[in-house]
Parts: sequence; C-alpha cells; structure tokens
Amino acid sequence: MTSIVTKPEELTFSLPDLPAMPAPGRVLLVDPAYFDVEYVINPHMQDHVGNVDKTAARAQWEALRKAYERLGIDVHVLPGAEGLPDMVFSANQSLPCLVSADGSAGGSGGGFAGDSGAGFAGDSNKFQRAVVMSIMNASQRKAEVPYFEQYYRSIGYEILHLDAERTACFEGMGDALWHPGRAMLWGAYGFRSDLSAYEQITAMLGVPVIALELKDPSFYHLDTCLCILNEQTALIYPPAFTAEGLALIHALFDVVIEAPQDDALKRFAVNAVCPDGHHVLIQRGCDATNKALQHHGFEVMEFDTEEYIKSGGSVFCMKMLYW
Ligand code: ARG
Repeated sequence: MTSIVTKPEELTFSLPDLPAMPAPGRVLLVDPAYFDVEYVINPHMQDHVGNVDKTAARAQWEALRKAYERLGIDVHVLPGAEGLPDMVFSANQSLPCLVSADGSAGGSGGGFAGDSGAGFAGDSNKFQRAVVMSIMNASQRKAEVPYFEQYYRSIGYEILHLDAERTACFEGMGDALWHPGRAMLWGAYGFRSDLSAYEQITAMLGVPVIALELKDPSFYHLDTCLCILNEQTALIYPPAFTAEGLALIHALFDVVIEAPQDDALKRFAVNAVCPDGHHVLIQRGCDATNKALQHHGFEVMEFDTEEYIKSGGSVFCMKMLYW
C-alpha cells in the first residue's frame, strides 16, 4: 500500500489492515571518542560550543550501552570519526527497513506485500533487510553517512538512495519512525527532512507514510516530540505539531501521553526509547513524564545524557534500532 497521509480524512486503512512487521532486535551505537559541540545547527547547541565534558560524555554513553546489553539486545559499536562530532547520534544517518523477500524494495510497487497477501507473517525468512540512506541537512554532517552505508553493506543490507534531485534532505530515524509491529512509517518534515523524501520512500518501500509537519525549531526532529512506546501508545509534546498532525496521532494511537514543556524542552523527555514495548529509557529527572508512563504500566529506566542534550539529542537519537 503506498500513500502519504497528511490529514485524518486521508486515512483509508486502519492499523490491523496493514502487514505485520517483526520488531528490530539490534542496536547500533557510535563510539563517542570524537563527540563534541563544534558548531550550531539547532537552538540547543547555541551556548555549548567547546563546552562538552568528554569524560562525563563517555560515562553517560557507556551506561546506555550496558543497559541495552542487560535488556538482551545485540549491540554493535561503530568507531567514531575525527571531525564528525555528531556521528554519535546514530539515529540520523539512515532508515533501516524490512522488505518482503519476493518483492524488490528498489523497484516500483515492490517492498511490503500487503495487498498481494505475501510478505509479513512474522517469519524472518520472508524478509530481506534494506536501508534508506539519509541526505543530511547540515553540510557539517554529510560525511557521516558513508560510514553507516559501509557497515550496512558489510552485513548484507540492500542499500537504497533517495534521488537527490528531488529531495534536498532526509535525516533517517531522526524524522522517520516505524509504527511498532506494522508496515507503516511516521515521517516528519519542516526542519531536517523534506516532504518529498516520503513521496520517494512510500514508492520505494510500498508502505504508507503518515506525514507530520513540525512547527517549533527546538523540536526539529520527530524523535524530539513523538516517542512511539508500543503499537497502541505514544508519548508526545503537543505544541511541536500542527492540528492535523495531532489529529493523526490521536487517530492511530489508543493512548497518547503528553510530556510537559519543562521535561520535553530541558530534559528531552520525548527523546526516550522503548525497545521492547515495556522498558522506557529516558533522561533522568523527567518526573511528571515518568509518573504518566508508570501509570500506563511502563517501567522507567533513567539515564544521564546531559552532555548530549547540549548538542540537541538524548537517548533515542544516540542509537539505531535495526534488524
Ligand atoms: N547536534 C545534532 C544535530 O543537530 C543532534 C542530533 C540529535 N538527533 C536527533 N535525532 N534528535 O544534528
């Protein structure tokens, strides 16, 4: 099924109609050896150039790595690269995906086989792994992408590129989030990704994309204002979205938890991750958000990511979940 949905009236399906998609079981991290704030490409970085405590940053990153291992997730660490201080935000350089083994992800009409009945029944033999590489918005970050492409190639992924003539920028899973368990993508545009990226992705992968426009430069990536916790539940920061975007979120999630401004803006509460549908890894001190998460049955695991918040990122964007 291919389509871009920008308002609730355009929803022609409900989630159970879509092919099932297995959860990713692996995490890709980038060693923080070269992490720093060296330039300003989002409002959070403004007062922090040269102001990162490298020892603290390493300890914060190590604590997250160990947590994924404790949760039984297979962790792979890529080395950082000198001169690429933002490479540690490994959510941004790519969008990994699964495509049905009998469809070609790169060809028109290939990919997810929802309409033909083939494809997504939870049997991983039926899938092949592919990845859409990002086109970074900031010139300072463009050289990060080939390092990731090389890694995905080395583990057998099919590499997909957007047509750069049609799309100026697309920042991977900073802006594009899979709906857990379903072959459907949430895709944001406005600051770091273009709407046209999703026109290309829906055609390449054969999945519908729910396109959300972002309004507030402090919430410049979708992963700063929408955290998908499980198939039914999302954590959001409402003022980052348009009325149409909020209506779509409410149309597709049964439970929508709202983070208050202080948690979302100062502590990146919504840049949390729920890798197994139950544990939520989140910046320390998001007390109001944590209370709401616990009320809905989630187990909160707090981390310090203060050095990374100086750069405009926290738990979610410091990792890539992949298959
Ligand atoms: N300094 C990085 C940038 O502005 C931070 C990226 C954080 N990533 C994210 N998905 N929120 O590009």
